[in-house]
Amino acid sequence: MYTYRLVLLGFGAVGQGFARLLRDKADDLRVRYQFRAQIVGVYTRRASLFDPTGLDTSALLHAAQGGGLSAYPGSPKLRRDLDAAAMIAHPEADTLILATPTDLADPGPAVAQVKRAFQAGKNVITVNKAPIATAYPELSALAKDAGLFFGYEGVVMGGTPAVRLAQEALAGSRISEIRGVINGTTNYMLSRMEAGASYAEALAEAQAKGYAETDPTADVEGYDAAGKLIILIALLFGQTLRLDQIDCHGITEIGPQAIAEASAAGERWKLIASARLTDGKVEASVKPIRLPLSDPLAGVEGIMNAVTYVTEEMGGVTLTGAGAGGVPTGFAVLSDLLALHRKRLAGAG
Ligand code: HSE
Repeated sequence: MYTYRLVLLGFGAVGQGFARLLRDKADDLRVRYQFRAQIVGVYTRRASLFDPTGLDTSALLHAAQGGGLSAYPGSPKLRRDLDAAAMIAHPEADTLILATPTDLADPGPAVAQVKRAFQAGKNVITVNKAPIATAYPELSALAKDAGLFFGYEGVVMGGTPAVRLAQEALAGSRISEIRGVINGTTNYMLSRMEAGASYAEALAEAQAKGYAETDPTADVEGYDAAGKLIILIALLFGQTLRLDQIDCHGITEIGPQAIAEASAAGERWKLIASARLTDGKVEASVKPIRLPLSDPLAGVEGIMNAVTYVTEEMGGVTLTGAGAGGVPTGFAVLSDLLALHRKRLAGAG
């Protein structure tokens, strides 16, 4: 049985959520899918760990939740001196998991890491949104030419399969509009504020639960949702937009009074990301909108996300599910790995 050997760049909420799933589901995955994987490398800003015989996932999680990864215990083949570039290209690894924080203002380093991995013959699974938002056509062409796998299910709606639904299940349909609640932090905050929490309390809770980005400005000002919208536009409409081409507003202006007024009118504030394709031209925005409670997106509460794809053939197709959090987004990495595994088996067959 083939064993995938993974290098993780980043070991925050998502990296740890994925590691936990890999550890807890190892037997099940082996029996059900003949799938086996081990983490051989973890690189973060503070620590570098590489062991070609496989790192101990429980010890990694224990160290990460305690004094930090530098407390990971030594072993005969363990190296602590590799930089990110050396780890990505290491001959004893076959797949890069890019679970570093998204920085849409400076996407260059993340894009370069994905390119380096493809040039070194590695598969890539990214949860970092920057490479998909800014360089999807180039990177997907590189992967295709090299016959490598490029997975990015986790960049929109965590493990809820918004990308696979659009690219695989709806392949062949014509999608003219995308509309969704695609930032969990702000949706959680709006729900908590409706229940009486202050803006600061709601944000602190979202951070404590691991929903918010490392810099939560990206969430509350709408840039995270705009980044995901850019990704959906790239994947579904084949156009690469920049952030400044999205009419982007966040929830920073929504205070208790606005919430109360909406409630009194039988409505609810939602941060809605939408994009419409008309005659080859895309119009896109992210903005808080007061929706009547009868609107399906108004019922999406807390950390849940939802996206509606408006298709020519079936009208709206809506998917709802968890859109943030370590384990739900870690699941996206696992789901991409299983997609890689299916592809590998199909190629072998
Ligand atoms: N900060 C993001 C959110 C995480 O709240 O939706 C998932 O992309």
